[in-house]
Amino acid sequence: MKILVVGKGGREHALIKAISESPTETSIYSFPGSDAIFTLSQPAEGVSDLPTLIEFMKREGIDLCVAGEESYLLTGEGLANLCKEAGIPCWGPEKQPAHLEGSKEFAKEFMLRHGIPTGGYAATETAEAAKAAITGYPTVLKFDGLAAGKGVAVCTDEKMADAFLQEVMVDRKFGEGRMLVEEFLTGPEISIFASVVDGEYQILTPARDYKRALDGDGGANTGGMGAVASRTGLVEPELLKEIDDTIVRPTVEGLQKDGMSYRGFLYFGLMLTPDGPKIIEYNCRFGDPECEAVMPLLKGDFAAYLKSAAEGTLQPDLISFDDGWSICVILASAGYPASSRSGDVLEGLDQVSEAACVYHSGTKQNSEGDFETAGGRVVAVVAGGATREKAREVVYGEAAKVNFPGMQRRSDIGRLHFE
Ligand code: AMP
Ligand code: GLY
Repeated sequence: MKILVVGKGGREHALIKAISESPTETSIYSFPGSDAIFTLSQPAEGVSDLPTLIEFMKREGIDLCVAGEESYLLTGEGLANLCKEAGIPCWGPEKQPAHLEGSKEFAKEFMLRHGIPTGGYAATETAEAAKAAITGYPTVLKFDGLAAGKGVAVCTDEKMADAFLQEVMVDRKFGEGRMLVEEFLTGPEISIFASVVDGEYQILTPARDYKRALDGDGGANTGGMGAVASRTGLVEPELLKEIDDTIVRPTVEGLQKDGMSYRGFLYFGLMLTPDGPKIIEYNCRFGDPECEAVMPLLKGDFAAYLKSAAEGTLQPDLISFDDGWSICVILASAGYPASSRSGDVLEGLDQVSEAACVYHSGTKQNSEGDFETAGGRVVAVVAGGATREKAREVVYGEAAKVNFPGMQRRSDIGRLHFE
C-alpha cells in the first residue's frame, strides 16, 4: 500500500512511524517531510504546491493520502476535495468542514446550531465594537483569521485588551478579519480525538497538552511543550460518556445534518468547567504534541485502518491502545516561542534507549550528518509506563540524554494538574 503523509513535524513523524509498524506492507512518501522523516519515508520529489502534489500522487499511484497538518485542507480548492476529484482516498476532511478549524466564527455558529456547549461570544468588526462587547475581565479575544497561533489573547485587564485590539484590529498585524469576544472559561483542559467517517466515529486515547512555555504553566503560549496520554487515566469513564453524549456525538450528527461529509481525525479542545465540558476549539487533525504521546500506545494495523476509513468504512477493531501512561516532553530551541534559533547541534540522540521514542519536530541534518535545530520545537521525547510516575521517570531519564545549546524543557509534564 502506497501512503503519502502531508506535514513535516513531530506529529507526522509519529504518524509515519506508527504506519510503518503496521502488518500491512507499506511504501511511505512524505511532503514536505524533514530529514528525520525521510529516514522512514521517501520525499515526494518535484512537489512544491497542491496541484503538483496531486499530480505526484496520481503518477505514483498513491493509495492513501493522510493529512497530518491542516494547512493544505484549507488551501486553494482543498487537499481532500482535489484528492476526491482524482479518486485518491484522503484521511482529512474537505474544505467546508475543515472550516471548523479554519474559522472560529464558523465553528461557533456550528456549535450554537447543534446545541454543543461552548463559551458565549460576540463577533465584532472593529476595535470599538469589540471593546463594547467586553462585559468583564478576564476576557478572551480571538482573531478570526490566519495568525500563526498568535491570534488568541486571554486578557486579564483593560490595558491588555486595548493593546491586543490596537495591534490586531487597528494596526491589522494579521490582516483583515473579525474579532470574537469570548466568555472566559475555567477548569482543566483536555484534548479528545475521534476518527470520524461520515456518521460514524471512534474516540481515541485522550491526552492533555501543556501549552505554556514554563513550569507551572507560566510564560507565553506555545505550540505545546509536552503532553500526557492515557486511555482510562485522564478522563473517568463517566466523564468520557458525558463528553461523548454532549459534544462528540452531537458534532458528528451536526456534520451529517448540515450535509458535510467528514473523514479524518477530529480534535476537540475542551475545558472541563464547573458547568460541564465545553469546547474551546475544534481542529481537523490530530494534536501536536498529543499525537506524539498517543501513537506509541497504538497497536494493530494502522495503515489498513486509515485506508478503510478514508474509503468510508470505519473498522475500530483494526486498532487498539495500550493501557498505561505515555508522556511526551518537548525540547525547544533558544528564544522559543518568541523566536527560534537554528543551527545548534543536538548531542546524545544515540544515547536514548529503546524505552523511548524521539520524534523530530524541527531539525535538519548538517553536512556532517548531525541533526541540528531548525525550528522552535526541536524534538519530542516520549516514553510510557504502567503508572504516570513510572512514565515520568523514564521519559525524563531519556530526555536528559539529549542536549543542545540554549535548549528549553519543562520539568513538570505529567505532574502538573495531577497532584
Ligand atoms: P486556542 O487557540 O483557541 O486553542 O486558545 C489557546 C489557549 O487559550 C487555550 O488552550 C486556552 O488555554 C486559552 N483559551 C482559549 N479560549 C478560552 C476561553 N474561552 N476561556 C479561557 N481560556 C481560553
Ligand atoms: N496541541 C495543540 C494543537 O495541536 O493545536
